[in-house]
Amino acid sequence: MAIVGFFSKNSTIKLQNEWEKRLRIYLPSINLVPLLSEHAEQVTTALLWKPPIERLKDLKNLKGLISLGQGVDHILKSNSIPTYIPIVRIVDPYMAKSMSHWVILSILNFVRDTYGYYEQEKLKKYEPRKELNFLSLKIGVYGVGAIGSVVAKDLYNLGFKVEAWSRTKKEIQGVNCHYGENSFEQLIKKCDIHVCLLPLTQSTTNIFNKLIFANMKYGSCFINAGRGDHVVEDDLIENCKSGHISSAILDVYRDEPLPKDHKFWEIKNIRIWPHVAAETNPETAAKQIANAINCINKGELPPNTIDRNLGY
Ligand code: NAP
Ligand code: GLV
Repeated sequence: MAIVGFFSKNSTIKLQNEWEKRLRIYLPSINLVPLLSEHAEQVTTALLWKPPIERLKDLKNLKGLISLGQGVDHILKSNSIPTYIPIVRIVDPYMAKSMSHWVILSILNFVRDTYGYYEQEKLKKYEPRKELNFLSLKIGVYGVGAIGSVVAKDLYNLGFKVEAWSRTKKEIQGVNCHYGENSFEQLIKKCDIHVCLLPLTQSTTNIFNKLIFANMKYGSCFINAGRGDHVVEDDLIENCKSGHISSAILDVYRDEPLPKDHKFWEIKNIRIWPHVAAETNPETAAKQIANAINCINKGELPPNTIDRNLGY
């Protein structure tokens, strides 16, 4: 019987039961036990979303950790997990498409001024508003891995001009690809809409800061579904207040859930989503997680094990 530890911050036992049900399709004898229960102390594998890292030190038989999301920064945060323990992430085309839908929604709301029309509707005002010419807009997608590459392709297929940025060289049909630190500022200067889909690492923390916002065109749109720590929040607020950034659409924050007294809530051109742009779907992700558990127990390296040197 496979006993696997489970922890998903702010979720209920219902979610653990849902995962167990989905995983049993592939591993009929699996049992998920709460990470904080004494039963978890013998587990070799744990499924985690924002876990209390200290607890992992009690798992003396640990052979591998699996993130319940595509990002792993929530596990790497403490830097205390031995490098011989593989950390595996989900890579699910369902999530990539889901993110693509959310980014497209955000961009179309900006281009077609949806919120301006909502305001007019309240006043029974029947008048066209200024429409942006989508042919002249450039969209920068920062991070074109499993998720960003799908987003970039889908935006291109909608008729947008798309520029992509990654660490290493990429080829994406129809998309202008750039790579490496040196090309970042140039790209920032020429795009009108900026979409952050980077993983959070030492190199990408605070990447959207005062200097970078200042280099964006006046009236730019900024979209963040990467991680909150990619953004220096006070710098974003300042730029939104001045109109330099005309619209910011955010799904992730340095502090989650976003505190009720956070300044973001007060800024009228910041749209707030509660980290739902691409949610993990147990139905579509269970098969790869079951496979990862099997690999870990056999001492094999599972697919989508992260590179500990890169941090993603
Ligand atoms: P991924 O497949 O690992 O792709 C990451 C991309 O970022 C790659 O293109 C990588 O370049 C690039 N990158 C990393 N470090 C860079 C650097 N220093 N400079 C330039 N480019 C860099 O990750 P993913 O699965 O697409 O997920 C990306 C992130 O999205 C996750 O880590 C998570 O934070 C976020 N996410 C958010 C949600 C949500 O609901 N808001 C849902 C899922 C994921 P190379 O390919 O050249 O290495
Ligand atoms: C969500 O943020 C994820 O990393 O999957």
